[in-house]
Amino acid sequence: MATSQKLTGKIALITGGTAGIGLATAQRFVAEGAYVFITGRRQAELDAAVQQLGNQAFGVQGDVSSLADLDRVMATIKEQKGRLDVVFANAGIAEFLPVDAITEDHYDRQFDINVKGIVFTVQKALPLLPNGAAIIVMSSIVGSKGFGGDSIYSATKAAIRSLARTWTSDLKARKIRVNAISPGPIETPGLNSLAGTPEQAAQFKAQMVRGVPLGRLGEADEIAKAVVFLASNDSSYVTGAELFVDGGMAQV
Ligand SMILES: NC(=O)c1ccc[n+]([C@@H]2O[C@H](COP(=O)([O-])OP(=O)(O)OC[C@H]3O[C@@H](n4cnc5c(N)ncnc54)[C@H](OP(=O)(O)O)[C@@H]3O)[C@@H](O)[C@H]2O)c1
Repeated sequence: MATSQKLTGKIALITGGTAGIGLATAQRFVAEGAYVFITGRRQAELDAAVQQLGNQAFGVQGDVSSLADLDRVMATIKEQKGRLDVVFANAGIAEFLPVDAITEDHYDRQFDINVKGIVFTVQKALPLLPNGAAIIVMSSIVGSKGFGGDSIYSATKAAIRSLARTWTSDLKARKIRVNAISPGPIETPGLNSLAGTPEQAAQFKAQMVRGVPLGRLGEADEIAKAVVFLASNDSSYVTGAELFVDGGMAQV
């Protein structure tokens, strides 16, 4: 992996860092010189990811929708490193149901993990952040689109984009930059789990690709590279923004 040590000496937290975009970003961050804390609910996946990342990474098991778990994550970071320079609030889930089939559980699960999880990840990280730190929150192109069948997931992502705007104002005195990243369809375990069988997943992905000007799904590392940009000094004058990395899908 070609790198230029853009994050040398930085301490980073990536929630949902055991698979997909989060794991790819953890790999990039380590390659760029950062020390990375990753989280996830499943202990075995967490252990495997940390082993893959090597001695510049540490895993803390936890669910972002649990405030007690977030307290434990932050206490571990405080004890081990004393500060956090970069927060990538990435953990999220997607479930699709048309409006007439939405249930309370479907609503609560997605808002609890995707929105409440990000709100309290960021809030609880604040005491560890020095002036000039970088926060990146995981939105999605669906926050600006209306593809159909995924209104609750899309609404969580629109909420996240909004949080990045207001927090930019809330945190301006501390020169903390807050940006949202909005991927298009990216090849990850999460994307593949949206459809039932492997055949249905292939069909679902082929259908999505038809709406992507670049004519393919994105790779998790293509998002990771954009997160490195938002985490590093290369984006020193970028805040409150939404960076689309979507092969053009939401731009046309
Ligand atoms: N893939 C795409 O096409 C795409 C496009 C736009 C936006 N996104 C967003 O990008 C983020 C990552 O997506 P992905 O496709 O990489 O997903 P993924 O392959 O399913 O990976 C999700 C990661 O988040 C963790 N996670 C899920 N719920 C969690 C929770 N409650 N607490 C802590 N960790 C949790 C998972 O581990 P555990 O299950 O063990 O907790 C895993 O490490 C999500 O926010 C998603 O909405 C994805």
